[in-house]
Amino acid sequence: TPPFFSVLQNRQSFQICNYSKDPNGPMYYNGIYHQFYQYNPNGSLWGNIVWGHSVSTDLINWIRLDPAIERTSPSDINGCWTGSTTILKGRQPAIIYTGADTQMRQVQNIVFPKNVSDPYLREWIKPDNNPLIQPIGQGLNSKQFRDPTTGWIGPDGLWRIAVGAELNGYSAALLYKSEDFVHWTRVDHPLYSSNASTMWECPDFFAVLPGKNSGLDLSVAIPDGAKHVLKMSLDNCDKYMIGVYDLKNDAFVPDTLLEDRRLWSRIDYGNYYASKSFFDSKKGRRIIWGWTNETDSSSDDVAKGWAGIHAIPRTIWLDSNSKQLLQRPVEEIESLRREEVSRQGLELKQGDLSEIKGIDTLQADVEIDFELTSTDSADPFDPSWLLDIEKHCREADASVHGSVGPFGLVVLASDNMEEHTSVHFRVYKSQEKYMILMCSDLRKSSLRTELHTPAYGGFFELDLEKEKTISLRTLIDRSAVESFGGGGRVCIMARVYPVALIDGGTRMYAFNNGTSTVRVPRLKAWSMRRAQVNVKKG
Ligand code: FRU
Repeated sequence: TPPFFSVLQNRQSFQICNYSKDPNGPMYYNGIYHQFYQYNPNGSLWGNIVWGHSVSTDLINWIRLDPAIERTSPSDINGCWTGSTTILKGRQPAIIYTGADTQMRQVQNIVFPKNVSDPYLREWIKPDNNPLIQPIGQGLNSKQFRDPTTGWIGPDGLWRIAVGAELNGYSAALLYKSEDFVHWTRVDHPLYSSNASTMWECPDFFAVLPGKNSGLDLSVAIPDGAKHVLKMSLDNCDKYMIGVYDLKNDAFVPDTLLEDRRLWSRIDYGNYYASKSFFDSKKGRRIIWGWTNETDSSSDDVAKGWAGIHAIPRTIWLDSNSKQLLQRPVEEIESLRREEVSRQGLELKQGDLSEIKGIDTLQADVEIDFELTSTDSADPFDPSWLLDIEKHCREADASVHGSVGPFGLVVLASDNMEEHTSVHFRVYKSQEKYMILMCSDLRKSSLRTELHTPAYGGFFELDLEKEKTISLRTLIDRSAVESFGGGGRVCIMARVYPVALIDGGTRMYAFNNGTSTVRVPRLKAWSMRRAQVNVKKG
């Protein structure tokens, strides 16, 4: 068995074999969650892309079906790339996806379920009128024109979708309109465009209500007070803007415009890309799903026979001051919890390293609250750190004492600490507020070489008058360490490959390396059961 074949039993990982990447067209339809994904049926590197298909009733246990869309027509013969599902009036689902055609142009195609009474919607039909949308029009680049969004209905009753594109050398979410979802015309202006980069992949456009963690369905009327979010994938990460959908001009208008895209908010500050969200009508929430690639080498991927996982689906909503999105793993993941350990009244003084025992540290869920005893002495914040947070995480790592922090968790640690991954916070004072740094430092995560082991990091603001504690939730699933800090303000997904993982022996600790003492009013940790992931249905 190749070393890492057995990892990630809890993931929506589709890792049974071969290569998978972007989540495509997630939806809840007639009692079933569908997840499609970019999939190479012939190997563990990118190529021959079709739409893999898995179904679930609980977002945790998955059945793998045959691919839903294959490379069978001139308009997708070179690849069935990313796209989205929309549930049309009359409740018929449709998928619009990008095809790489015979000339490697990117075109948009549609498929419909062959039989809507099949609960799994196994077969999808390509009508004759594909491609629906071609890369024709001023300023378009036929090789940078892909990843259509879920459709929504505008005030004129017409459908709209957005397509990621390069427009006159800039990045754009192009807007298309249709009466019947099949015949599309390009609107003379994009939904939004920016000269900050050349192409946006996988745009996602959705509505949210400030402070409400219930989601909104884009295809029904959007209530007053709702905001819109435009997410785009670029620079190896998923960024977003919060703004309004200006109905009169049919355009997205961000609340704040930051010229420097290094300052744009991120869905996740780690290894997380090509995410896609959907409205879950079963529980009235919005769920977002992202892809996490391997950070070992392609020869490792070939040796192990698979590559690519999906992060655990997350509920996503807008905070009450409309400033940022918040996320947490869907509550269903808690059904996998088994032994629980809990600690109360723990106090971490400078240099303390307190072991969390009694659970399976390779497959665990940890919730921990850190209460600060004093913040007056917090070190000053330097806004230039925001331009390269990873650099700051490397410089101010877990061993560098600060006034308040670093404190956090050390996970997947070998007995002698030669291997370990640390997820921690530092508190800085910035005028009247506090800026909290969250890092997930992978540099010591493995003794193996040729791995990509950055120190990921993100900042969030905290009003320490109102909130006395900083929460951390970390889900460990062998090679995946997924962390949510400050109630989901900063999320960091990471992949690690410790050698100790093969030996089956790793440890977990809570620590503090800052001068001021940190209390831990609440610490709970659970071993996690294996989910049934991608059991093949004959
Ligand atoms: C994003 C992406 C998409 C494209 C697909 C191809 O990861 O590059 O833009 O549609 O993957 O597999």
